[in-house]
Formats: sequence, structure tokens, C-alpha cells
Amino acid sequence: MLYVLDTANIDRIRECIEYYPVDGVTTNPTIISKENSNFPALIKGIREVIGPDRMLHIQTTEQTADKIIKEAVQLKEFVGGDFYIKIPITADGLKATSALKKMGIKVTETAIFTQQQALIAARAGADFVAPYVNRLDNIVSDGVNVVVEIVSLLKSNCCDTKVLAASFKTVEQVHKISLAGTHAVTMTPEFFKTLIYHPMTLYAIDDFMADWQNAYGEKKISDLLK
Ligand code: G3P
Repeated sequence: MLYVLDTANIDRIRECIEYYPVDGVTTNPTIISKENSNFPALIKGIREVIGPDRMLHIQTTEQTADKIIKEAVQLKEFVGGDFYIKIPITADGLKATSALKKMGIKVTETAIFTQQQALIAARAGADFVAPYVNRLDNIVSDGVNVVVEIVSLLKSNCCDTKVLAASFKTVEQVHKISLAGTHAVTMTPEFFKTLIYHPMTLYAIDDFMADWQNAYGEKKISDLLK
């Protein structure tokens, strides 16, 4: 499963990349607006930090097919590297998706809340579909199950489209969708940290260190091998 950062904060992206296996960055207009900074400089900065080979998903701010296509071409040229235009699922979004695929521009169909939205986006040629797990849970719609069914539908329809699940509040949501074979998840840097946290791990490390110290004092392996 690919791990993607759902943020436009350059310092946090840099920090996460140093420590975690990060496959890319996703943004949307809300995430971008939180940085309150010069947009071209911001997306160039993100590309610089993540390098050309990690995915960068940037969402369109247009709503008609022609304008979405124009914006996607402009963005791809400006930001370079492994680029995906994020397009919310609408009729115009689907029209733009089909056209962009023919032009060789990769698309992530976003704001997916139903299984049929995902399947139709896949048929239009989307590379990724992005269902919002926690926002579904918030309207008592079982976000995990929606993702599980999307993964299964795409598989049984032999689509190449992958699932990039978004919007998480619990580790359990991520775990359950990963069991279903979800291809990628995007989450905030803060949430990424919670995925590796467990108090028993910290206790175990403390015990290892205490036992070693009892036997060898302050000496480390490198001291003993000198
Ligand atoms: O990319 C979509 C994602 O940012 C939605 O997450 O936490 O706002 O529901 P959230």
C-alpha cells in the first residue's frame, strides 16, 4: 500500500520524508489555503522537497471541462515530475478526465462518496479514485465498507484504476481498508505518526536499553567492537 501525505506544509512534508516511507503528496483547495502563501512558490517548493519521482496530486479550481483541462495542462507543465490532476466527480469532471487521459495527463477523481461514482470515474479513465472514509462515517455511511466495495468492484471490472483512500480519523479505518487491498492512503503528517505509535513498543525499547546497561554500562556495541 502506498502512503501519501495530505498536506501542503513544506516543513512537515520534509520532516515526514526524512523518517517515513512517503510515496507522494495530495492537496486540495482547503489544504492549500491553510498555508496562506504564494501558490506557485508553494507547489514548486513541494515538488523540490519530494523530488520528481514521488506523486504530486493538485486539485483543479475550475468546474467546466474545458477550463479543467486547460488548468491541468498548465499545472503539469509548471510543477513537472509525477503529476496528477485531482478532479471532483461531476459530469464536467468526467468529460475532462476522458480528455486528459487521451492527452497523457494522469487523473485522480476525488470527493468520491459512493461505489458507483468510483466505478464510473474508473470507466472514464481515472488513475486513482479518492473516497473519503471519515466523512462517510460522519454521515453513518460506513466509509470502510464503501472503500472495500470499491476495491472489489474495480477488481471484478478489470479496471486499472487504483483506490487512494482519504479522510481518516482512526488507525482502525486505515487498517481495515488496507486488509481489503486498497492501493494507497493519504493522511496528515500528524496522523501518519499515530500509525506507528504503540506504548508496548516504547516499553520494550526501555527494557532492552535497561538490560543492556545492566550488563555493559554506558558502553555501546561500537565501543565493544573497537
Ligand atoms: O483529500 C481529501 C481529504 O483532505 C479529506 O480529509 O479530514 O478533511 O475529511 P478530511
